[in-house]
Amino acid sequence: MSQATIKPPASLLFIFGGSGDLNQRKLSPALYNLFIDDWMPEQFAIIGLGRTEYSNDKFRSHLYDGIQEFSRRKDDGNGKWEEFSQHVSYLQMDAEDEKAYTKMSDKVKEYEEQWGIHPNVIFYLAVAPQLVPDIAKKLGTLNLCSDKKATRIVVEKPFGHDLKSAKELNELLNSMFTEDQIYRIDHYLGKETVQNILAMRFANALFEPLWNRNYIDHVQITAAETVGVEDRGGYYEQSGALRDMVQNHILQLLCLIGMEPPVSFDANEIRNKKVDVLNAMRKITTDQVHACAVRGQYSEGWMKGEKVKAYRQEKNVKPNSTIETFAAAKFYIDNWRWQGIPFYVRTGKYMHQKTTIITIEFKQAPHYSFPAEAADTWRPNRLTISIQPEMDIRLRFQAKRPGQSMTLNPVDMIFSYKDAYDGHEPEAYETLLLDVMEGNPTQFMRADQVEAAWAVVMPIIEAWEARPPVDFPNYAPDSWGPEDAEALIARDGHNWVTLPLPHKEH
Ligand code: BG6
Repeated sequence: MSQATIKPPASLLFIFGGSGDLNQRKLSPALYNLFIDDWMPEQFAIIGLGRTEYSNDKFRSHLYDGIQEFSRRKDDGNGKWEEFSQHVSYLQMDAEDEKAYTKMSDKVKEYEEQWGIHPNVIFYLAVAPQLVPDIAKKLGTLNLCSDKKATRIVVEKPFGHDLKSAKELNELLNSMFTEDQIYRIDHYLGKETVQNILAMRFANALFEPLWNRNYIDHVQITAAETVGVEDRGGYYEQSGALRDMVQNHILQLLCLIGMEPPVSFDANEIRNKKVDVLNAMRKITTDQVHACAVRGQYSEGWMKGEKVKAYRQEKNVKPNSTIETFAAAKFYIDNWRWQGIPFYVRTGKYMHQKTTIITIEFKQAPHYSFPAEAADTWRPNRLTISIQPEMDIRLRFQAKRPGQSMTLNPVDMIFSYKDAYDGHEPEAYETLLLDVMEGNPTQFMRADQVEAAWAVVMPIIEAWEARPPVDFPNYAPDSWGPEDAEALIARDGHNWVTLPLPHKEH
């Protein structure tokens, strides 16, 4: 989220896991798009690190394959790829070998001489979580990391496995880097529609007066995916839906909806307001977990006409796995603004529809003065924020249906990104990588935020681990998850909101 139109200072990016999936699918396409859009620094170099043997040319063509498959711009940008790729190189090294790290210091010196200045040095750890502590320790011993202003370390999720391990990781990182040097990525925070929540809430006078327990009945957050665990069974067995999606992405969305207005756009001011929400979330006790959280695991079945495997049949998954691929929960925020207002959240793999959507359901109008026949189609006001794949905001209100009788029906006022703009929104990683180069940590997780988010989900994790599910698998692919998830919200007289699929023109 750039605050100015000036380019970031000279930057040298080292990408650990350079030959891996994340770099090919997300990081390189993001940096390439920033380059095309003229956001990259005048002087920059991207150095992929890894054990695989690559010449610079082979590495570049590996990344170009990724651009063609995964980038929002799949072509060579009228020769821009050629130009961009000259900034990309590969350094073969074993991240476990301490001596190899001097190669990186040498590179830094080389670029310092070439550019005539000391650049930002960014270490991006696009590696398996278990490798993070060791790499961080080895980096910490490098002299150049003591430059607090220009040296940064970027850590991908999952950040820890539970509250205890997250605290340990924070302690370790904080013993070598200052908090300002550590960028913990939650890629949801880089999404355009997610960033727009702040703009919508705090750049308009209209919503804020209504944004509280007096006018809002409940809030829902759904993050549904139509894919299964794909080839990530090994990772997912250590994770599950609660750790993979709720502890981070969904709780961050909840914070943006629940936070108090920031006094300024200062990174710490915004992060303070978000962490306040997490700290105010009601602690669920172990004996309440069954009443406010639901887990599910997909069976084999059919997904849009294709036969798909049960989770327990996926590669690297135990045949009797108790890991959840679906999670739903009801949370409360105990403060003046939100006391008593439920926040329902759900996420799952192999859901019927790919959608990430936030719903703010308002209370009913206090008095109904219309004739009885007008009542049939009456619905409370509702604001829906579609994060993806549709990107829009809809406000539902009552309108009179044309005709001689006074009949009401709900209509939507829609702001659609596609219609309002040219449909070339930057990808989340573009925004976040630019922020790292600019040194703007607003959209990154601070240590206390990560820990507070773990504290929210820990009682559920502990209760689930203590009582293995007896009914797994309990939902079919192409559904909306287990029946209990419907019951969770139906008990309070509500139902999960999904928007109709957009009409596709053929
Ligand atoms: C990742 C999870 O953080 O987010 C994945 O590990 C999930 O399991 C992904 O598929 C979803 O991200 P997005 O941007 O596709 O909604």
